[in-house]
Amino acid sequence: MPRMTVNGRPLEFLMDGRTPLLWALRDAANLTGTKYGCGVGDCWACTVHVDGQALRSCLVTLDEAEGRAITTIEGVSRDGPNAVQRALIEVQAIQCGFCTPGIVMALTALLRASPSPTRAQIEAALPHLCRCGVQPRLYAAVELAVRAGGGAIAAETAAAAPADPDANGTAAAEAAPEGADQ
Ligand code: FES
Ligand code: FES
Repeated sequence: MPRMTVNGRPLEFLMDGRTPLLWALRDAANLTGTKYGCGVGDCWACTVHVDGQALRSCLVTLDEAEGRAITTIEGVSRDGPNAVQRALIEVQAIQCGFCTPGIVMALTALLRASPSPTRAQIEAALPHLCRCGVQPRLYAAVELAVRAGGGAIAAETAAAAPADPDANGTAAAEAAPEGADQ
């Protein structure tokens, strides 16, 4: 059964290894902040971090995630909004809200890797489908987060995970019965 660390907590998923990570996170780990948009890799609403890289969880199987460190929206902001989230709020960059977790994950990964990204890097990090046209405010939010100290995002993100994940022991997660309230 696939084992990995999710938000700093060791988890073993009692599920078929071919199951998309998205379903496992939502249905078994009860981490419903990661959103199901298209399910086929087009919208990026399901973005999570896999070993720090922003990936679409609908395209990653549990077998592919085996042994990796997964971070979801619940794990990236445990101590309150991070720099990206504060900037998104400040410039009111969000419309529907459904796409927001994936956008936060993408921008958090961007600022951790590139504390002062170029416009081209910002645009490349945001392939998310957003039909409400919020992209200009997303760019403004990133620029605000950078001015506010984008480099701090790495420390904030690191602080979100428990210092000693092994201290929690490995928990098992399996899908809730069909029809269960998620
Ligand atoms: S749900 Fe994964 S890309 Fe749309
Ligand atoms: S923010 Fe969700 S569609 Fe634009």
